[in-house]
Amino acid sequence: MGSSQTDGGYGLNVTPTGLAEQRLLLGDQIDQAIARVLAHGQFILGPEVTQLEQRLADFCGARHCVTCASGTDALQLLLMAEGVGPGDAVFVPAFSFVATAEIVPLVGAVPIFVDVSADSFNMDPSSLEAAIGLATRLGLRPRCVIAVDLFGQPADYDAIDAVAAPHGLTVIADAAQSFGASRHGRAVGTLGHHTATSFYPTKPLSCYGDGGAIFTDDDHVADLLRSLRVHGQGRSKNDNIRVGLNSRLDTIQAAILLAKLDLFPQEILERQARARRYSEGLGDILRVPEVQEGASSVWAQYTLVLQDRDELAALCRQAGIPAAVYYPVPLHAQPGYRRFPATPTGLTNAEWLAKHVISLPIHPYLDAETQDAIMQTVRRGLQAVGKLSLDAQYA
Ligand SMILES: Cc1ncc(COP(=O)(O)O)c(C=O)c1O
Repeated sequence: MGSSQTDGGYGLNVTPTGLAEQRLLLGDQIDQAIARVLAHGQFILGPEVTQLEQRLADFCGARHCVTCASGTDALQLLLMAEGVGPGDAVFVPAFSFVATAEIVPLVGAVPIFVDVSADSFNMDPSSLEAAIGLATRLGLRPRCVIAVDLFGQPADYDAIDAVAAPHGLTVIADAAQSFGASRHGRAVGTLGHHTATSFYPTKPLSCYGDGGAIFTDDDHVADLLRSLRVHGQGRSKNDNIRVGLNSRLDTIQAAILLAKLDLFPQEILERQARARRYSEGLGDILRVPEVQEGASSVWAQYTLVLQDRDELAALCRQAGIPAAVYYPVPLHAQPGYRRFPATPTGLTNAEWLAKHVISLPIHPYLDAETQDAIMQTVRRGLQAVGKLSLDAQYA
């Protein structure tokens, strides 16, 4: 880890992602995998891409996996495959990474912001119901809901489906942070009608650049996606039967992911063990994240909710702990997004969480000594400022 106690406290050197440690384990395999691609030279949609798609589909039990250039593209390609466009409403949580909402106006549709649950950080189904009513009153066609599995835990798809199905909405799972998690025995990749994930370097399963994938059981949508990611190609190279994108996963990135996939199940267990340790070590003084009954999380983030998170943020900065705030501004308050409608029942939890969340570093290679030092720093700091019992009050 690299920790040294000084008069001022712990001078920790905590790595935020564990990628360097992972490279020590897998570096040779990854370098050899890249070298094989350099040797065969099929850099676009080479054999590793096909292999990876099969392995990922098998991993989660989806019928199809279609890889693409990023998690953002995965979401956009799905909206394109669903034919979403002008006059359509797409429901998105107000507390997420901007990509969840960004792709909606990009296809000409209107994002409508929905509130989240303060306990799970994920979409609140009753807020969704109200938002659907609003869309209809605005003269928009309710088409899709994009449920985000924030911080690694799947959204409550049963409850979301119960609201979405009577309105004929397609449920898209934004699983950028949750690939590898599950709900009631079903893996992420099979929980929505379609699922989008990201292999951005900080994600639980990551490549060395941008990358993404889509999972679906729908043969027709899978065919459309395979065409859309290659400029809307038809049967042959110069046959362009629809407007598409250039959005392939590079063969080199697929080779890297294949090498990492062998280790991924163990890495998930290691993340879960570290989350348990945090909760056992801090649960008496802080509100720690909850995993819903029947669900598992891959702990993309370990997120606390504090009345005064700025104090903890300052403390962590001082101690060399890379704590981070995801996300300090809810999407509906972002300058580029203020013009879009919000559910009439309000976005109180999204606004409140944006002010009060803070995530501690978590990754499969965080060693016990470092984690203990992080917890000690958090505890000592909170004690020092007389905030031992920070019981967050929800709005
Ligand atoms: C919830 C969420 N959705 C979408 C994305 C977009 O993924 P990418 O960065 O691969 O485009 C991310 C991550 O970056 C994310 O966290």
